[in-house]
Amino acid sequence: MSRLKIAAGNWKMNKTFEDAMQLSRAIANASRDESVLTILGVPSIYLKMIVDQVLYVEGLEVAAQNCHSQPSGAYTGEISAPMLASIGVKYVILGHSERRADFAESNSELAEKVDIALENDLIPIFCCGESLQIRKSGKHLEYVTDQLKDSLFHLTEQQFSKLILAYEPIWAIGTGETATPEQAQEMHAHLRNAISLQYSQEIAAQVPILYGGSVKPSNAVEIFSQQDVDGGLVGGASLKSDDFTRIINSF
Ligand code: 13P
Repeated sequence: MSRLKIAAGNWKMNKTFEDAMQLSRAIANASRDESVLTILGVPSIYLKMIVDQVLYVEGLEVAAQNCHSQPSGAYTGEISAPMLASIGVKYVILGHSERRADFAESNSELAEKVDIALENDLIPIFCCGESLQIRKSGKHLEYVTDQLKDSLFHLTEQQFSKLILAYEPIWAIGTGETATPEQAQEMHAHLRNAISLQYSQEIAAQVPILYGGSVKPSNAVEIFSQQDVDGGLVGGASLKSDDFTRIINSF
């Protein structure tokens, strides 16, 4: 079964307004493989402008980097899933390791965020991944599977089939150190197997699993060529249109 190929950028807290608009425009106009679903994970303050800018651009979508677990209320500074949906956002990155670490997002809170995102027709790009310490302990496969179990396995098969997963080993994020293609493949195959046991082989075969952690133009081809790697969630290299375009064209 052929799965969607996806190149997702996570701009994190980078770019001022003009630079952000210029970057999204450059990617929209670049010569890129339009069969690759390209998603720009932009700072929330620019979401509406960039959604409008890329509205009619083939194969290009926009993601928020987070949403709150509640639909509305007294949560100063937060952004809700209904708000994102109301401005035409279709994707939301959830459970990024930086949010887990810096904002103490737990697996159970993420389960609520996934629920509210799906209720509002947003597609979660759900991030999982282990620290270096856990990798060294040899428990990384179990640890990451537990992240899925605790945050996702309450979903119905129909809900689960909407998700995009992103395996991002924390030790490879922003460090220049990339998981080897074999390490990525091992984890992705393991997760697909866990999904198959929980749901069905069809669902497991269909859900896109992206790799994230120092993906660059120089290593994207090798990583994306792994059987269970369906693309990348890219931080640093998504901030330059040339680099990101080369990554998009790496399938
Ligand atoms: P880098 O590509 O900068 O390592 O970041 C990966 C990441 O965190 C994407 O969400």
